Amino acid sequence: MGAQPVDDAGWHVAWPPAEGARRARDVFARAFGGDPAGDPVVGVWSAPGRVNLIGEHTDYNAGLCLPTALPHRTYVALRPRTDDVVRLASAQADGLWEADLADVGADGGAAGGVSGWGAYLAGVAWALREAGHAVGGFDAAVDSCVPFGASLSSSAALQSAVAVALDDVHGLGLGGSVAGRSRLVEASVRAENDVAGAATGGLDQSASLLCRAGEALLLDFRAGLPPEEHAVPLPWDLASVGLALLAVDTRAPHRLVDGQYAARRASCERAAALLGRDSLRDVGPVALDDALAALAPHDPDGVLRRRVRHVVTETARTADVAELVRAGAYEQVGPLMTASHVSLRDDFEVTVPELDLAVDASVAAGALGARMTGGGFGGSTLALVRDVDVDAVVAHVRAAFADAGLAAPAFLLAPPSAPAGRTD
Ligand code: GLA
Repeated sequence: MGAQPVDDAGWHVAWPPAEGARRARDVFARAFGGDPAGDPVVGVWSAPGRVNLIGEHTDYNAGLCLPTALPHRTYVALRPRTDDVVRLASAQADGLWEADLADVGADGGAAGGVSGWGAYLAGVAWALREAGHAVGGFDAAVDSCVPFGASLSSSAALQSAVAVALDDVHGLGLGGSVAGRSRLVEASVRAENDVAGAATGGLDQSASLLCRAGEALLLDFRAGLPPEEHAVPLPWDLASVGLALLAVDTRAPHRLVDGQYAARRASCERAAALLGRDSLRDVGPVALDDALAALAPHDPDGVLRRRVRHVVTETARTADVAELVRAGAYEQVGPLMTASHVSLRDDFEVTVPELDLAVDASVAAGALGARMTGGGFGGSTLALVRDVDVDAVVAHVRAAFADAGLAAPAFLLAPPSAPAGRTD
């Protein structure tokens, strides 16, 4: 199994595209034989991980999110087949994963013999078919420099790379437009929800397929997965004002992730139902106090009210950040990031000590703001940092983890990068 690349100084390395393509082709040749470098029917596609600047646990509450794509990508060498068999190899997993598309379905999952990491990918083909597209089986090989288990959307990167590959090899014509890519997002989300069995929202796949280099993407989930007019690119050019976005992979083990995520989602849905609303988006900041008062009789321990307060204030903060970004007032984004973290820590209760420590240490060392990113319960934080302070923040976070007796964190810079597409 290939280890994921962290350099000697503890940075997650982003491969140049040519290296990623070569690696995926090597995995393909080892798994399926032949000389894929000389095989025109094997192409390579890739897709990025993401960071979410703000707007956490809002996607499944019809709220706002603001992701950017990472320079770290997952590379997939793929060759279509004439039957419905899917065979997958990965530099990060032992053995071959194999299934027939006929066995994949909404009732699939473990019971249907389709489980494990391949369910995410076979599920994309299944969901495209369900949406009426002529898609068949394939052999594919994967290598990735998107850190795993770090809340940076390695699963969505994998799905998105396969989605654009299937679009290309079957001539579906979806990858060339935002509207078409939104169909690929839908298929990928359906695969994650119905085949892999994770009830996540659409943030991750939207980011990997729709974010563009140099920009952040304001996603509004008010009407479900954001249609074209509700996925709005915003300029995110931190370098021009001497700023950078630093991610800290805390390497905290994910704890009870699935059950906790589902529990948060269920609480939000219960609160919305008790309030007689379709979603918590319908509770704006102005109506928040009334909503909290109305929930009180049903909420002896205050849990529902804390969850609602996070979701409502988080979408309001995301709207505020979007305005600041539009105005190029990047430095002022920092305090809202930190406020988001406090809300996720105290009200939504999805942080762990490692995330809190990374945020506190980043801010103490001069970051303009910091917060966890992604689902929580382990994973990564983001810090908005002046270029000149990056080294000091890294050193301080590293020292804080050592002092606390924790494993060394890893780091990466997150300039807004390109979406899923063909690499080779
Ligand atoms: C995970 C999920 C997303 C989103 C985030 C939290 O990344 O996959 O859909 O809910 O958590 O914002």
